Amino acid sequence: MNTYGIVFRVSLFGESHGHAIGVTIDGCPSGLSLKTGDFKSDLARRKSGSKGTTPRLEGDLPEIISGVKDGFTTGAPVTVITRNAEMDSSVYNDVLATPRPGHADFVAKVKYSGFSDHRGGGHFSGRITWGLVVAGVIAKKILHPLRIGANIIEAGGSKDIDSAIEAALKSGDTIGGIIECKVENPPVGLGEPFFYSAESAISHLVFSIPAVKGIEFGSGFASAGMKGSEHNDPIVDETGKTSSNNAGGINGGITNGNELVFRIVVKPTSSTGIEQKTFNFEKKEMTFFKVTGRHDACIALRIPVIAEAAVAIALTDLLMIDRGIHGVRG
Ligand SMILES: Cc1cc2nc3c(=O)[nH]c(=O)nc-3n(C[C@H](O)[C@H](O)[C@H](O)COP(=O)(O)O)c2cc1C
Repeated sequence: MNTYGIVFRVSLFGESHGHAIGVTIDGCPSGLSLKTGDFKSDLARRKSGSKGTTPRLEGDLPEIISGVKDGFTTGAPVTVITRNAEMDSSVYNDVLATPRPGHADFVAKVKYSGFSDHRGGGHFSGRITWGLVVAGVIAKKILHPLRIGANIIEAGGSKDIDSAIEAALKSGDTIGGIIECKVENPPVGLGEPFFYSAESAISHLVFSIPAVKGIEFGSGFASAGMKGSEHNDPIVDETGKTSSNNAGGINGGITNGNELVFRIVVKPTSSTGIEQKTFNFEKKEMTFFKVTGRHDACIALRIPVIAEAAVAIALTDLLMIDRGIHGVRG
C-alpha cells in the first residue's frame, strides 16, 4: 500500500509529527557509491523556508541506516530516515471534529476509524515526499548520465511566479501552479505496452504526490484540438529523432528516444488563512473555521524536485524490468 515498483521497490513511511519519516528501497543494485552528502542538493530544493513556503523549518538531515557499507550499496534494502523535530501539534486538535475541506482529514477519519495520526496531516502530509526525493537521488545515480530537470512555469494562473506569490501572501490565501519536467534523450524502449506504459508508471508516481491533480505529456490536452497531420511527429533519422515532439517522447507507452516532456497541475494548498466553511461532526452542523497552523502558500514551489524524483523512480523501475537489477550497473 505504501510501496511502488516491480523491481526497484520504493516504500515510504512515517508521519508529519511522528518520530521520523523515511524510505526503504529494495532492488537497489550493489556497488553504487552512496553517502549522506549525495542527498544534500535535492533535499535542499524540497526544503521549505523560501517565500511562499511553510515556516516549519526541519533539519531534514538524512541518516542511512541500512544497505550501505564503506560508502557503497550492498544489494540489501537501503533505508534512509530523518527525524522530525519542529512540530507544533496543538493546532491540529480540531481537525477530527471539523475536518479541513480539501485535506485528507475526513477520509482518513472514516477509513481508519479515527485511529490515523491527524497531527500535521500525519501520513498524508507533503512531508512524506522527503523519502521520495531520497529515492529519486538513488534512481538518478542509476540513470546517470540521463539528465532530468523540472521547473515551476506557472503559479496562480500567471507566468510571473514572484508576483503571484506576493499577491497570494498579501491576500492570506493560497495558490496552485504548473510544473514542467523534461528528461533529455532517454533511451528508446523504456515502458511496457499496457499497464506499465511509461505514461502509466510516471503518472502513478506523480499522482502519489499530495496535491497533484493533473498531468499531460507532450502537447497533452491541446492535442484534442489538433489534426493528425499536425500532431504526428515526423521521424527525421535512424535514431528515431523527430522534428516536433507532440508525443512528449512516448509512443505506444514506450520511450522513443526524444525528450520526455510532461506537465503537472498542483492545486492551491487546502489549508488557508481565509475563513471557510466545514461540517462540525460534534455539533452536527456547518461551521466557519480558519486554519491557524503553518502551511505552504504555494505547494507548487516545492514540487519540481519531487516530480524529478517521481520520473527517475519510474524510469529506473522500467529499466530494471527490462534489464534486471544487475543489468543496470554502469
Ligand atoms: C511538499 C508539499 C507540501 C505540502 N504542504 C501543505 C501544507 O502546508 N498545507 C496543506 O494543507 N497541504 C499541504 N500539502 C498537500 C496535502 O498534503 C494534500 O493536499 C492532502 O494530503 C490532500 O491530498 P490531495 O490534495 O492530493 O487530495 C503539501 C503537499 C506537498 C507535496
